[in-house]
Amino acid sequence: MPHNEELVVTTSTVRYPVIVEAGALERLPHHLASLRLDGALWLVSDSAVYPRHGLALEERLRGAGYTVYSRIIPSGEASKNLDQLSQLYSWMLDGGVERRDTVLALGGGVVGDIAGFAAASILRGIALVQLPTTLLAMVDAAVGGKTGVNHPLGKNLIGAFYQPRLVLADTQTLRTLPSRELRAGWAEVIKHGVIRDAGLFDQLEHWQAEYGALSIDLGILSHQTPITDIIRRAVAVKVAVVSADEREQGERIILNYGHTVGHALEAAMGYGMLLHGEAVAIGMHAEARIAAAIGLCTPELVERQQQLLSAYGLAAAFPVHADREAILALMLRDKKVERKRIRWVLPTALGAVAVRDDVPVELVRETLLGLSS
Ligand SMILES: NC(=O)c1ccc[n+]([C@@H]2O[C@H](COP(=O)([O-])OP(=O)(O)OC[C@H]3O[C@@H](n4cnc5c(N)ncnc54)[C@H](O)[C@@H]3O)[C@@H](O)[C@H]2O)c1
Repeated sequence: MPHNEELVVTTSTVRYPVIVEAGALERLPHHLASLRLDGALWLVSDSAVYPRHGLALEERLRGAGYTVYSRIIPSGEASKNLDQLSQLYSWMLDGGVERRDTVLALGGGVVGDIAGFAAASILRGIALVQLPTTLLAMVDAAVGGKTGVNHPLGKNLIGAFYQPRLVLADTQTLRTLPSRELRAGWAEVIKHGVIRDAGLFDQLEHWQAEYGALSIDLGILSHQTPITDIIRRAVAVKVAVVSADEREQGERIILNYGHTVGHALEAAMGYGMLLHGEAVAIGMHAEARIAAAIGLCTPELVERQQQLLSAYGLAAAFPVHADREAILALMLRDKKVERKRIRWVLPTALGAVAVRDDVPVELVRETLLGLSS
């Protein structure tokens, strides 16, 4: 993909740019002005991100003449709940929020999801700008309009599709991201290569060969690596898929690769044990093995994917304590299961997947049992 090609999500109802650049936050006032977002700005961030990136941003926006209100939620998944959401509503309503105002979501997927849903629902919806600061949020959560919070009965059960007016990912913010979080984000980048962009996969292999293990350490950002280009290319996959299927009625399911096993693994291990991306990496390995077992892809693909995952610091091995029968049971209860048939997204070649609902449960069980710990 050419260096500066503009990424634009285009659906039947919306059109918005996705900007991926080092230093992009410096130009936020300019982008807001060109979108005519000139009301007050309601900046939502978390306790880890705000001191590192929020304060400077706020100052820049005030300097450009904007009225900015800020709200910091505690860092972590536990904040993505109805209580925090209700506090966000009170903060905005007390502060006199108006229809012409904009919510700025500065943070990872947690901030993006809860602030996004607040924007979707307050006054029946005000403008939303996503400013992702984790690799996972840049390549996945911030693009596509899924917003929401968790309910005591399950993750992401309350929410809405609500598309932002702009997504602006400043790759410089990744410099402060803890390395485990960064690694978890690479799982989604690699996933995008496997499902839709073999060239991205090649590039990730090449980058790894050139820079070695350092490539997962963002210290390398200072060495003129093509990280921003790679992230932009991974984002382009999400942009293309969401543009083709805004509401997950068709093609968008391909983004679920690695997630059928991954989600069940997260739940079986207890949330918080594995990061989402870590579970997805293990899920991708298991699901590629299933694809190979039914003759859909070659064992070489499974091997290449495993090598790449491990080169980016992601284990493909099953956690020792994971109960495989419990994981199978959880998969059969997943919300994406229809009439007891799991809809698998399985690789057929690098850059291509097929959706299959005819994989025998026994074969899945055997594959899970055959995975090494
Ligand atoms: N809406 C979607 O389509 C979608 C897609 C995938 C995941 N999600 C959701 O996203 C959430 C996970 O997102 P996440 O992995 O970004 O988690 P997160 O938002 O919890 O961020 C991970 C950690 O990194 C910290 N952090 C974020 N940016 C930082 C930075 N630049 N420097 C230092 N610390 C930083 C955060 O405070 C947090 O502790 C989950 O709730 C998941 O359900 C949503």
